[in-house]
Amino acid sequence: MTKPADTATTVGKINPDVLAFTEGKDPVLDLDLAEVDCLGTAAHVTMLARMDYTPTLFTEEQRVAVIRALREIIAEARRGDFAITAADQDVHLAVERRLTERLGDLGKKVHTCRSRNDQVAVDIRLHVRDALNALDRELAALAHALLALARAHRDVPMVGRTHLQPAMPSSVGMWASAYAEMLLDDAYLLDAAYRVNDLCPLGSAAGYGVPLPIDRRLTSDLLGFARPHHNVFYASCARGKDEAVLLAACAQVMLSLSRLAEDLILFSMPEFRYFTLPRDLCTGSSIMPQKYNPDVLELIRAKAALLIGQSTASNVILKALPGGYNRDLQDTKELYMEGLRVTRASLRIMRLMAESLTVNPDRCRAAFAEPGVFATDRALELVAQGMPFRDAYHQVRDHLEDLRGMDPDAAIARKTHLGGTAGLDLDALDERADALDRAAEGRQAKIRAAFDQLLDV
Ligand code: ARG
Repeated sequence: MTKPADTATTVGKINPDVLAFTEGKDPVLDLDLAEVDCLGTAAHVTMLARMDYTPTLFTEEQRVAVIRALREIIAEARRGDFAITAADQDVHLAVERRLTERLGDLGKKVHTCRSRNDQVAVDIRLHVRDALNALDRELAALAHALLALARAHRDVPMVGRTHLQPAMPSSVGMWASAYAEMLLDDAYLLDAAYRVNDLCPLGSAAGYGVPLPIDRRLTSDLLGFARPHHNVFYASCARGKDEAVLLAACAQVMLSLSRLAEDLILFSMPEFRYFTLPRDLCTGSSIMPQKYNPDVLELIRAKAALLIGQSTASNVILKALPGGYNRDLQDTKELYMEGLRVTRASLRIMRLMAESLTVNPDRCRAAFAEPGVFATDRALELVAQGMPFRDAYHQVRDHLEDLRGMDPDAAIARKTHLGGTAGLDLDALDERADALDRAAEGRQAKIRAAFDQLLDV
């Protein structure tokens, strides 16, 4: 028999089972939001203190006192000493409780003109902003590592495949830099997610604004956002959408990593051995002494499936959701947090893989023993001598054995056009990765500066 407890300061007695069910994992997940929750509160209270309104909502002295207390809570959170109790339900009420314990009646004023609905929305956006900047930098580092691999083995011929069957001469340079370019395109999606996320919902309160002249632009500026959401009802509906857009972008990153992982598993098999995986990134077997297994790469494939699942789950939570706040949105929190964490960890581990992969040029060249791989190049040579393409196609097809012994190095040297084996502009891709890294670093520096200013009392 569970007995209703006087659990929450906000709504009185809640059945403990209901409390446990509705708060779900918030008391744990929200620990990651403690710092940003304090920053959101600092900006909100600063805005209230600067409001031209009588009676004064917060004096400058009161603002300073609240911010000092918030700084202490941030320090507690960084030390791991900040706790969210079951009675708190979530970080928002935990911070308010802590402020009231320290400041008495002043702590009870911080929720003026605010709801947990806009509070959690801004917390997530602040959290995502940091995480996306870190993710961009991780992605740029992996792109650089793949480009370094491409540069080091630019002229190592590699059999290009379609349907996994030998198709045309390619190179390790072409293979590795293709994945770098794929990831850099995924970064466009991360950038779109960043823009959708870089908006401040604060002041939307429960989703319909407040009947006092708050300055939403100021709060947004104080937190270093690009701008506030315009329509406050939309600001509340944008919760969940933000996370879904982010997860869709992360799912694309993971799909790229998964395909790269699959190529690496395949081409490092003893039957191919174009590549040797770094031993310290492989795992052994408890029974088979000879084993070096590509578990990391297999897990990357699985993580890509998880991201697709998280992205799908967040979309389905939104699908028939009526406008305004609904508690369903709480369940998008774990999805986006986990999705971000997994994507970042995957980028990092794949960079380690790319940095220490061994390329075996002899094995790569030996794969050209099958003459068919030169057939299309030969047909186009005949075209260059004046033969119509279809006639050349049939002539080569009827004399495939004549191609035996053709030189793969010469073949890859002949594709000089843009993006061909001898026309790879690796510098341009490195510049894209640099630009991505610089942009993320610059954005993060601006955010830090805004926070330092906000907390400087
Ligand atoms: N933990 C809640 C969430 O993530 C906070 C918002 C609660 N708002 C409400 N109206 N019950 O959604």
